[in-house]
Amino acid sequence: MAQQPREQWGTRAGFLLAAIGSAIGLGNIWRFPYIAYDNGGGAFIVPYLIALLTAGIPLLILSYAIGHRFRASPPAAFRQLSRPAEAIGWWQVLISFVIAVYYAVIIAWAVRYAGFSLGQQWGDDTEAFMVQDFLQTSDPGGISSYIPGITVPLVAVWVLVLLVLCFGIRRGIEWANKIFIPLLVVLFGVLVVRALFLDGAAEGLNALFQPQWSEITNSGVWVAAYGQIFFSLSIGFGIMVTYASYLRRRSDLPGSALVAGLANSSFELLAGIGVFATLGFMATTSEAGILDLIGEGGVGLAFMAFPEIISNMPFGADVFGLLFFVSLVIAGLSSLISIVQVVVSAVQDRTGMGRVPAVLTGGGLAAVVSIGLFPTDQGLNILDTADNFINNYGIALASLVLVVVVSWLLRRLPMLQAHAQRYSSISLAGWWKVCLGLVTPVILGVMLWQNLQTDLAETYGGYPEAFVNSMGWGVAIGAVVLAIVLSLLPWKNAPTGTASADQDESGAGEEGKS
Ligand code: ALA
Repeated sequence: MAQQPREQWGTRAGFLLAAIGSAIGLGNIWRFPYIAYDNGGGAFIVPYLIALLTAGIPLLILSYAIGHRFRASPPAAFRQLSRPAEAIGWWQVLISFVIAVYYAVIIAWAVRYAGFSLGQQWGDDTEAFMVQDFLQTSDPGGISSYIPGITVPLVAVWVLVLLVLCFGIRRGIEWANKIFIPLLVVLFGVLVVRALFLDGAAEGLNALFQPQWSEITNSGVWVAAYGQIFFSLSIGFGIMVTYASYLRRRSDLPGSALVAGLANSSFELLAGIGVFATLGFMATTSEAGILDLIGEGGVGLAFMAFPEIISNMPFGADVFGLLFFVSLVIAGLSSLISIVQVVVSAVQDRTGMGRVPAVLTGGGLAAVVSIGLFPTDQGLNILDTADNFINNYGIALASLVLVVVVSWLLRRLPMLQAHAQRYSSISLAGWWKVCLGLVTPVILGVMLWQNLQTDLAETYGGYPEAFVNSMGWGVAIGAVVLAIVLSLLPWKNAPTGTASADQDESGAGEEGKS
């Protein structure tokens, strides 16, 4: 690995904004409201908060500690923890790669929908408009048509993301988040206030928050709560390891994890309030129950239910539509930037390339795959399948392997705990190790076992088996195999730990070369 001075965040606030920007994403706006409603409404908040405190924040601290201690991308950082653990780092990089290629296309859809909001161009049947007219979805199989209306915004999304990344950590990512996050909070705040004044808003909020306490004893609810926390906090795909590797030596890691975790969950609750107040309005104007409106998940909620509701608004429909879809675009962009940065930093560390060539290589490859596969008649089918499998057998499984390897096999939690606490007033005491060594592996193990049984018993989503085998299992297993292969290749300049954050901070404030 060529020894260039490592880039650094300009300020702690800049790092925190970037970490919060990464966490707040598409998952907060459409995934949380649906999952919460489906899993006991108000009663879901209890397992959700417990999941945040026992797995979310402890894993955030662990990721920060690994990235900050070794000041490297996931493969190089894990390699310094233990030589065979390098494969976990590559696994995380490949998971990020897969997520990036489909995450970008959802942002591209939202860009188009922001335009469709003007005059509600989706017409009366929003489901048919989305699936047939807009995405031109055909039966799962080979790609048979290309859709220019999605390609154009998708190319624009990738150009913007790669451009931000070319400018580097401080002048690119930090700067972009300083604009995106305040803008998102203002736009979404206005949307929530407007939603609260709609007829039926109270009914919608009752549906979300009325606790069904009987649900709390259902193990599926707990699994859903932990799943949501992992997805939402961007844990398990190497983002937080990467972002923390650019922190200054004297950084309060547990404090930052608390701020980022709580900010993300606060936004998630705000999104739940906004979305359900809006759904309540719809329930007053149609026969459908609130769950019918949500459809089968995130895509249904954002791109089918919301357009229908917007069309029925007595006034201000255009503005409401714009607020919603522009918020989705901004939340998505700040997350996508962080996801692609994982790939870029790994390419930089592995090859010694400067930032711009690494962005063009790693980010460019992701852009080519994304633009080649998703603006097609198979885009929705591939996205839906790859997303399910990479979430379960990528994010969740990689997190399980990570905690088992670090806490049980390598027994490095005490070292990482000491490192995390070094500049913090928060004492992690024994709870951190108990959460990571016991609670998280048990819950993740149960969660994966349940999901595996379902996925083996029935073919996912009713798709043909060959399709699920290639786009689902193939992608998830392919990531593991490729990660192992990459970890076995020899490094010309292997990382030795000499760039550790425990060393003197002589390069403070320096920007990396491009
Ligand atoms: N954490 C990001 C999201 O919620 C990936 O969408």
